[in-house]
Amino acid sequence: MMQRTLSFLRKIAALMLRKKTSAFVRHAAQKDAQHFAALHAQGDFSHAWSLAEFEGFLADRSVLADVLCDPSRPDRLYGFVLSRRAGDEAEILTIILARAVRGRGWSRVLLSHHLAHLASAGVSTLFLEVEDANLPARALYEAHGFSVIGKRPGYYRRPDGSSALALVMRLSLAEL
Ligand SMILES: CC(C)(COP(=O)(O)OP(=O)(O)OC[C@H]1O[C@@H](n2cnc3c(N)ncnc32)[C@H](O)[C@@H]1OP(=O)(O)O)[C@@H](O)C(=O)NCCC(=O)NCCS
Repeated sequence: MMQRTLSFLRKIAALMLRKKTSAFVRHAAQKDAQHFAALHAQGDFSHAWSLAEFEGFLADRSVLADVLCDPSRPDRLYGFVLSRRAGDEAEILTIILARAVRGRGWSRVLLSHHLAHLASAGVSTLFLEVEDANLPARALYEAHGFSVIGKRPGYYRRPDGSSALALVMRLSLAEL
């Protein structure tokens, strides 16, 4: 079952890369931390994670991270995704693309590769939280088969001080 999942995800990612070109996905390295901090600042989150926080994530063996980058300059990052694993479960902590490359479908390429990475590491169930009003992120997750399993009212604090509803989503990698 896991082999079928991996092959399915790789096929989707390969098809998308062929169609969209000029970006590819690799596993993250410790030196990417500074780029993660710069990209995260483009996320309109109420709290932008610091360089030290990203260095901590990347040094943590339970964290799996992938980056979308320029094929001719793999140190030039367009986006990244970060998950923390516990046993055969994992949680997506964040996914973000640089503003300049949004709307090209590259987030799908990045997430498809990341799901294959998680599945090959033995993750069978994946969770995440997303703001109810974040329609591009919700569409991205739904396109990959995530479904809503819970709601957390007031979970997010917006930069203007107001609060927002979080949706809890789940994906079974074993069922793909
Ligand atoms: C979330 C994010 C990675 C998605 O990447 P993106 O390049 O913007 O996504 P796309 O433009 O490919 O859009 C993804 C889907 O959302 C849809 N979408 C985009 N804007 C939309 C809107 N305003 N309303 C409804 N759907 C929308 C697109 O049509 C697409 O669906 P499709 O693939 O079925 O056509 C990116 O927007 C981002 O970095 N946002 C800031 C960080 C963030 O919010 N991360 C998620 C935290 S949980």
